[in-house]
Amino acid sequence: CGIVGYIGPEQASTFLMDGLSKLEYRGYDSAGIAVYDGTQIHVEKSVGRLANLEKKLESNQLIGNLGIGHTRWATHGRPSDVNSHPHTDCSGDFVVVHNGIIENYMHLKEKLIEKGHIFVSETDTEVVAHLVEEYYKGDFEAAVKQVLSEIEGSYALVFMTKHEPDKIICTKQDNPLVIGLGEGENFIASDIPAIINRTRRTYILSDGELAVVTKDSVWVMNRQGVPITKKVFEVHWDAEAAEKGGYEHFMIKEIYEQPRAIRETMSSRLAKDDSHIILDELKWTKQEMAAIKKIVVVACGTAYNAGLVGKYYLESLSRIPVEVDVASEFRYRSPLVDENTLAIVVSQSGETLDTLAALKEAKRLGAKTLAITNVVGSSISREADQVIYTWAGPEIAVASTKAYTTQLVLMSMLAIYIAGLRDTISAERSRELISGLRNLPAQLHEILEDVESIKTFAQKYGFNEDVFFIGRSLDYAVALEGALKLKEISYIHAEAYAAGELKHGTLALIIEGVPVIALATQHDVYEKTLSNIKEVKARDAIVIGIAQQGDEQIKKYVDHTIFIPQADKFLAPILAVLPLQLLAYYAAVTRGCDVDKPRNLAKSVTVE
Ligand code: G6P
Repeated sequence: CGIVGYIGPEQASTFLMDGLSKLEYRGYDSAGIAVYDGTQIHVEKSVGRLANLEKKLESNQLIGNLGIGHTRWATHGRPSDVNSHPHTDCSGDFVVVHNGIIENYMHLKEKLIEKGHIFVSETDTEVVAHLVEEYYKGDFEAAVKQVLSEIEGSYALVFMTKHEPDKIICTKQDNPLVIGLGEGENFIASDIPAIINRTRRTYILSDGELAVVTKDSVWVMNRQGVPITKKVFEVHWDAEAAEKGGYEHFMIKEIYEQPRAIRETMSSRLAKDDSHIILDELKWTKQEMAAIKKIVVVACGTAYNAGLVGKYYLESLSRIPVEVDVASEFRYRSPLVDENTLAIVVSQSGETLDTLAALKEAKRLGAKTLAITNVVGSSISREADQVIYTWAGPEIAVASTKAYTTQLVLMSMLAIYIAGLRDTISAERSRELISGLRNLPAQLHEILEDVESIKTFAQKYGFNEDVFFIGRSLDYAVALEGALKLKEISYIHAEAYAAGELKHGTLALIIEGVPVIALATQHDVYEKTLSNIKEVKARDAIVIGIAQQGDEQIKKYVDHTIFIPQADKFLAPILAVLPLQLLAYYAAVTRGCDVDKPRNLAKSVTVE
């Protein structure tokens, strides 16, 4: 989502619309603005592209010098006019725009409904607008602080009210927010591209900070009201660099977004005491789940690779046999699918034609269908009986990264959930996995904090023609994704092999100096993987091992090791893929490839 805000002498709508258009590259499903005209706040919003909103504004100009605006990437509630931001309270006196997810909104909503508040949208954000109204007793800042003490989750929030029209209040937690400092005017935005043609002097807000912005001043404080002195951050990026948040490519930006994307995907879905998974979207009964005899997972590309990991999760936790199919193959092989089959389609975009066609075929054959997708309202989400969303935010680079890891997270949660319904998971194992999931964002951060060695390996081996990836069990599934990443963006021929299968043919290709990336994160097959590493090492391959921290043994058998933080064997893939994404990225950069738009490939493939 994108956020903008303006306070100053000019027409607010001019900056708001211009700022929103600068965020258009990220893609969104609806937009809206709210402007105070001296007496009232007027809101205009529209589903679809910004042009739709512009059209509405032609016949209903919003005049005034104070305003906020938003472009939405739907999470809670489908894309529609009414679900678009800004959201207001019942009186229309308080407006808010929000990026992120309010985890406890259902609970708050119920309390507010009891007090007589009437809600019009399905969003989590509307709760925030009603809460400020509830707490406002003549002090806007105090009301916002009280709201912040009640809400849980991740957010960038911007508030305004007609009762104190000399200010905008904004705050953030786990979502970006910047304040652009002007002369006699100030700007607010979620992303720098929205403001750089107005000012290059900014305050970048940190988590937990609250800012009261007037046209001549910006007061930043913590939630207790203790003032914070901010340093001005001068933006030197050009417009293109600004779109990428200062990163060189969208792909690397999205790699770094993974801790947040995963946190959002898990948010509100893990019970507070780690006892169970909450997937309120799913309407299955215990009886229905007991009747499922088979699961088929169907997808393309990276989503297919996520499906392969999903098979391990689903089979081992729910004890239902799982088949994973490439979507373009599935429908042409008369699949054995009936009403006792659950077909799960996985698609970041929700628009891949092969996957959509496979979904339709599964439905025709009577299967129950479930979509895992990142785009609310997409064709696949509309076609499937049920949907669960990865909340990864828009993914722009053709090579998928954060969509893959969030798909893995969601698959693992789904497997725990289904196993819960079928009584095939112990309370202890469920708790163990859920607390492991909770640790993931911090562990991903840890890997991302030190990428120098990965960069060096990529630069060193980036010019080799062939690279092999090996691993057993879940490591094999991750190896497939690592090889795909390297192929699609660096054009290096890469193959992934089940480590034990290598000796049945491919070992013939291992000669002196061939790089082999060996994943050894799975304890139950560790010794066997080590034997396979020895096999390639004996043929003078150069081996980079990927192992869990604390594994001293592996160092003896490989040339280099990349360690990932210690994790449950089920969750290790979500960490282990990170070095592989980074290796592919830096290899592609070293080779001068067009990282975000690799040759011959498209982000969303809507032809068969
Ligand atoms: C295209 C993209 C891949 C992606 C695949 C499936 O081929 O280049 O990166 O994995 O489509 O896309 P989906 O949106 O269905 O996940």
